[in-house]
Amino acid sequence: MHLDIELKKRVDYINKVLIDNLPEDGGFYSLIIEPVKYSVSAGGKRLRPMLVSEAFKLLNGDESHRKVLEQFMTAIEYIHTYSLVHDDLPAMDNDALRRGLPTTHVKYGEDIGILTGDALLNYAYEILFNVSYSVSKLNKEYALNVLKAGKELSRAAGLYGMISGQTLDVVKTGQSITSDELDFIFDLKTGALIRAALKIGAILAGCSDDELLKIEKAGKLIGLAFQIRDDMLDEIGKEDVIGKPVHSDADNMKTTYVSLYGLEKAQEDVENYSSEAIDILKSLGNNDFLTELITYLTVRNK
Ligand code: IPE
Ligand code: IPE
Ligand code: MG
Ligand code: MG
Ligand code: MG
Repeated sequence: MHLDIELKKRVDYINKVLIDNLPEDGGFYSLIIEPVKYSVSAGGKRLRPMLVSEAFKLLNGDESHRKVLEQFMTAIEYIHTYSLVHDDLPAMDNDALRRGLPTTHVKYGEDIGILTGDALLNYAYEILFNVSYSVSKLNKEYALNVLKAGKELSRAAGLYGMISGQTLDVVKTGQSITSDELDFIFDLKTGALIRAALKIGAILAGCSDDELLKIEKAGKLIGLAFQIRDDMLDEIGKEDVIGKPVHSDADNMKTTYVSLYGLEKAQEDVENYSSEAIDILKSLGNNDFLTELITYLTVRNK
């Protein structure tokens, strides 16, 4: 398999879905729609929607549900994008570069940066309520899967998910933290949405409870590995490749996986967690692309 070709195919497909689902321009609405478009169109790896789609395939989801799946792929990437827009704000990480472009607040001002995040978050749920309503009218049984997937996303994005990870992250900025605190931060600020992506794909494929538990475990490991590598790239990455500032964590005096354990152990853990995740996923079905993707993430440089 040529992973780069397969990856590009998927990213192109996801970008098209994300653009198609953007709100329509017009009148004064355009004042907020323009920065929304700017932040969504800037690019990015599109990992979370990709995981939704690949978990769906792993569990033999019925392709007749693809349109529903695409609404979830969109919602999770819009929520992720909002989290980045807010994460970069002066009151949080205060970063000026994201996805190779000036951050939303640098381009449009801090007020519009805040509102762009709010708009993306709310629009994501509008999309999900719309799809839940349409499916409920057509197929009551499948509507339950849709609601269950929506429940999963709202929990992962919210107070018991990403928000609490981000909260502990900012509260602890400038202080040393324990390994338990770092685990909590990673598991929630990054792990929650990555886990949810895989679980949503699995739920929309109609997986069993037992399969969902395994997916959850794999997602936890992949999320952890992903954030460890993110911390590594803050030290060893190249700004023009990662598309965001390097040494942002050090400048903000954040405790990271690398500052706690060193680069060597960090990479070792990325690889161990990822191969454990791959074993779990392989026990659930066949998706060579997904396995190669997770392996690639262990050495990603962006
Ligand atoms: C960055 O996420 C923030 C983290 C959770 C580490 P990504 O590395 O997935 O960013 P994009 O979407 O590719 O820009
Ligand atoms: C952010 O973690 C995770 C989010 C929920 C956005 P980081 O602050 O390390 O992400 P980057 O490095 O700015 O992308
Ligand atoms: Mg941050
Ligand atoms: Mg940040
Ligand atoms: Mg980071």
